[in-house]
Amino acid sequence: MEKILITGGAGFIGSTLANDFATEYEVFVIDDLSMGNVANLQQADGLTFIEGSVTDQALMTQILQTHTFAYIFHFAAVASVADSVARPVVTHTVNFESVLHLLENIRLYQKNLKRLVFASSAAVYGDEPTLPKAEESVIRPLTPYAIDKFAAEKYVIDYYHLYGVPTSAVRFFNVYGPNQNPSSPYSGVISILMARHELLKKGAAASFTLFGDGEQSRDFIYIEDVMQALKLVATAEASLGETYNVGTGECVTLNDLIHYLDDIFGQTLPIVHESARAGDIRASLADIQKLRSLGFQAQYTVKNGLKTYVSTQKKDN
Ligand code: NAD
Ligand code: UD1
Repeated sequence: MEKILITGGAGFIGSTLANDFATEYEVFVIDDLSMGNVANLQQADGLTFIEGSVTDQALMTQILQTHTFAYIFHFAAVASVADSVARPVVTHTVNFESVLHLLENIRLYQKNLKRLVFASSAAVYGDEPTLPKAEESVIRPLTPYAIDKFAAEKYVIDYYHLYGVPTSAVRFFNVYGPNQNPSSPYSGVISILMARHELLKKGAAASFTLFGDGEQSRDFIYIEDVMQALKLVATAEASLGETYNVGTGECVTLNDLIHYLDDIFGQTLPIVHESARAGDIRASLADIQKLRSLGFQAQYTVKNGLKTYVSTQKKDN
């Protein structure tokens, strides 16, 4: 069986991919469990979990010297924009430096690699108001998170052009679905809303803190559509040395999202208003023509995705 390495593979997107791949490949996951959880990973014979940090260069070199990987997905990161504003130096070590070291290790030791897929972000577009965002749109990163993602993404693509390392980058828009950790104030907004609704349903006093006026908008993409996109990008010949937006091409405001979830749960979640977060992006929407050219078709609107997500949680409870 071919081997796959997923960094940050106990996290939300990484664990979903690891579980999907565990029957087809021998999957290696490295995660420091700062946000991820081993319980996200289904027990499977083909899955090896390594607890450690991608900033541990000795460990990373040892892993890349020991195994021959067909695919590497680099997802380990401080994934929250607001967290990066609070911790710029730590963020830089994880979100930028680890990428450069990984690229070097791959260049030296992974001669049979078919593809490195790097998780970049829609945050790189920043607040330039033109929508939708195509891959060639103006880049205006506003936060340590966005600056590091853009710099790392550039290195990833450059390693293909300079050294022939087979790489691709994906700019995820706002991904949501099961196994997204809701327990940090920096967690993704849908995971927080879902957790608060669950509490309210159980009769606890629960509320949601809305930063800003709620008219900020995002292109929310359901995790299953992200799996489709990742598999296409990782395997297409055309995606070598290329960067792809991963979104749905539709956006909603936070106020809309709050109403959709109130409707689905049949209850009204109390809202506490606070001022907008520093560096928060006002509007985000993906142009996904380039991803479509690989055969991508989003299967979920945000309403369907939320309904599916809620029904999945019900099954698990
Ligand atoms: P996540 O926080 O669930 O997953 C990231 C994982 O990386 C976590 O399990 C965490 O424990 C791990 N990690 C953090 N620092 C580490 C370190 N030093 N060493 C090893 N592991 C470490 O986030 P996610 O939503 O699954 O995001 C995956 C990737 O996609 C991240 O790179 C993120 O920046 C990017 N991304 C996510 C979204 C989104 O909407 N979820 C959007 C754009 C980009
Ligand atoms: C998210 C991802 C980031 C990714 C980016 C790409 C997470 C944690 N963040 O950032 O990795 O690169 O999409 O577009 O997955 N909000 C509230 N109350 C809360 C939490 C959030 O009002 O309790 C607001 C925020 O201020 C923001 C919006 O909800 O306006 C979305 O926040 P968040 O889910 O953190 O996403 P992004 O910052 O867009």
